[in-house]
Amino acid sequence: MTNPLDAQANIHQNQPIGVFDSGVGGISVLKHIHALLPNEQLIYVADSQHAPYGNKPEAFIRTRCLTIAELFMAQQVKAMVVACNTATAAVISQMRSQYDMPIIGMEPAIKPAVAASKNGKVGVLATVGTLKSAQFSTLLQSYAKDAEIYQQGCEGLVDLIERGERDGEAINALLKRFCTPLIDAGVDTIVLGCTHYPFIKAAIQQLVGNHVEVIDTGAAIAKQLQRRLGDKELLIEKSTQSLVPIMMTNGQKDVVTNVMQAMWGANIKIANADF
Ligand code: DGL
Repeated sequence: MTNPLDAQANIHQNQPIGVFDSGVGGISVLKHIHALLPNEQLIYVADSQHAPYGNKPEAFIRTRCLTIAELFMAQQVKAMVVACNTATAAVISQMRSQYDMPIIGMEPAIKPAVAASKNGKVGVLATVGTLKSAQFSTLLQSYAKDAEIYQQGCEGLVDLIERGERDGEAINALLKRFCTPLIDAGVDTIVLGCTHYPFIKAAIQQLVGNHVEVIDTGAAIAKQLQRRLGDKELLIEKSTQSLVPIMMTNGQKDVVTNVMQAMWGANIKIANADF
């Protein structure tokens, strides 16, 4: 039996884990975390009122993320997951310097994509904010190596997914615009660099064809969280009890809650809060 008290003072393995995104996108990551760590109490926060983050200034995104981090602190979380590539690029270093607990961020999976690609041509679908961030440039410098990386900002896609769309005309028209340059370039691997996009992975795969590998990082993030909690003896004791995540949004009640439920894939209570 592990000591319930972690090496870090005041953090206890029974405390919850905070996961957040600008909106519903992070639910794609939450699902992987819940599947891997069903006994952990997860709190998911969707900043729906301010979605999308991808076209907003970094300073604005930072303020929003720090507000949400404070909300998690009030819930006495033991770890936080920034389930958003755009937010990670804007705020992860500040959060890590401000809060003494495991803080997991997301970044486009350039390294695994370069390793997986056979022809060295990799496409990246992400928000404009992620692609123009300093963190993304560093990522490319570190891992792109000799691969040719084709970046595609996907303005407008998140707005549609926030409305619950996962296929259909509007999604397909945008996807066609964004994926055609990647197909024309001959990429054999595409990175989903935004946590909203796994919800439209089927539509993307259909458009680009099965010979193109489409990479989603949700499962890797869940494993990383498990590792980081394990290292600090902060994993909750295993039990047969699977805990339903606590879900919160500041968005318009019925509209957002319906979409969040649909993305989660089962009936789940969603609280409205002001933050
Ligand atoms: N899901 C987010 C990401 O991974 C944010 C998208 C947005 O709000 O623009 O980048």
